[in-house]
Amino acid sequence: MDEKSGGLAGITVGETAISTVGKKGKGLTYRGYSIEDLANHARFEEVAYLLIHGTLPTKVELNTYKKRLIQGQSLPIAICRVLEQLPVKTNPMDVLRTAVSTLGCLEPESLRHTAEFIADKLMSFCVSSLLYWYAFQTNDQHLTVISEQNSIAGHFLYLLQGHVPDAEFRKALDVSLILYAEHEFNASTFAARVCTSTESDFYSAIVAAIGTLRGPLHGGANEAAMKMINQYDDVPSAEAGTRLLLEQKAVVMGFGHRVYKESDPRTSIIKPWAKKLADRFGDPKKFLIAEAIERVMWDEKKIFANLDFYSALVYFYLGIPTSFFTPLFVISRLSGWTAHIREQRANNRLIRPLADYIGPDPRPYVGISERT
Ligand code: CMC
Repeated sequence: MDEKSGGLAGITVGETAISTVGKKGKGLTYRGYSIEDLANHARFEEVAYLLIHGTLPTKVELNTYKKRLIQGQSLPIAICRVLEQLPVKTNPMDVLRTAVSTLGCLEPESLRHTAEFIADKLMSFCVSSLLYWYAFQTNDQHLTVISEQNSIAGHFLYLLQGHVPDAEFRKALDVSLILYAEHEFNASTFAARVCTSTESDFYSAIVAAIGTLRGPLHGGANEAAMKMINQYDDVPSAEAGTRLLLEQKAVVMGFGHRVYKESDPRTSIIKPWAKKLADRFGDPKKFLIAEAIERVMWDEKKIFANLDFYSALVYFYLGIPTSFFTPLFVISRLSGWTAHIREQRANNRLIRPLADYIGPDPRPYVGISERT
């Protein structure tokens, strides 16, 4: 195998009309719209609709869509019972994986429960499942999961905080959801497409994607980045600590990207939100520490902060538990995954690549009594 194709780096494995990532002159676009325009002007629900249905919704379509999202907030009683069995130490990504899988047993994909129907339900459903499990395991509380908030960010913050969220906080979370929604053939999306290519069901593809996103080299990087920022008390210790990590050839979480080589276009959108929240709380310490890490990474290695790095800080300022950072990525990326599952189904061929064999030459079988 060509050394460069390890991890399929640089290999084009298919076509997509959903997004452009790092393509010359195009930046990051979702169905042709720049990520900057979407983050500045749209709400996450418009973006999710755009990804899943292919066009920006009209006012009527958006209102109908939001109503469907609100309907998805409720949890079947069987889901509540399952969530109550999951120990408090469960990784919240495993909670989501289990909740989605269980829903697939209760309401399997069918002519009535189409992929689009399930997708619309899953975004609110995942928020409700996560917060229900959290409230039950931490406070022994059966949380009322219907918030009536007509946005995913609003629903999440309402269930987490117990009241109607501040508009600026909701907007900050909304922007991060827009930025996380879609990113071409990233690992979790590819996993969803591979699963879909076998003509498996929608839930299975989403479960495969959640499991793939869980890893620290992909979605888990935002949690790992926050834990790293938390290790430092001030700017000098952050600078020294980052230099030490680089000397030790450690991977610094929240930095670098497989496709982007000079910068991540999403970082310049999310970073000002981290700053805005730091200023609003009069608590710039974590932001300054993060900037110090970013500075050292660039000066020493020319490696840039990716979306995960400053998203982590936005979530920190919003008071979101660190272990919920990657689940938020799931909730947003459900829209991109759904778009890709639909695209794969529309022009499907089994994804089945080849491998170069590097094992032993053919040899005779050795009976168990003759083995040493
Ligand atoms: N910290 C330290 N060195 C790094 C980092 C990093 N975060 N990222 C890349 N490098 C170095 C790497 O050590 C290598 O150096 P050298 O050529 O001296 O051996 C060089 O940069 C090329 O790196 P690579 O590992 O070949 O790049 P890759 O395309 O295989 O990996 C990556 C991409 C995202 C897995 C990697 O940058 C990484 O592990 N980053 C940290 C995890 C992270 O933040 N992941 C989130 C990615 S963005 C959101 C998402 O898509 O999920």
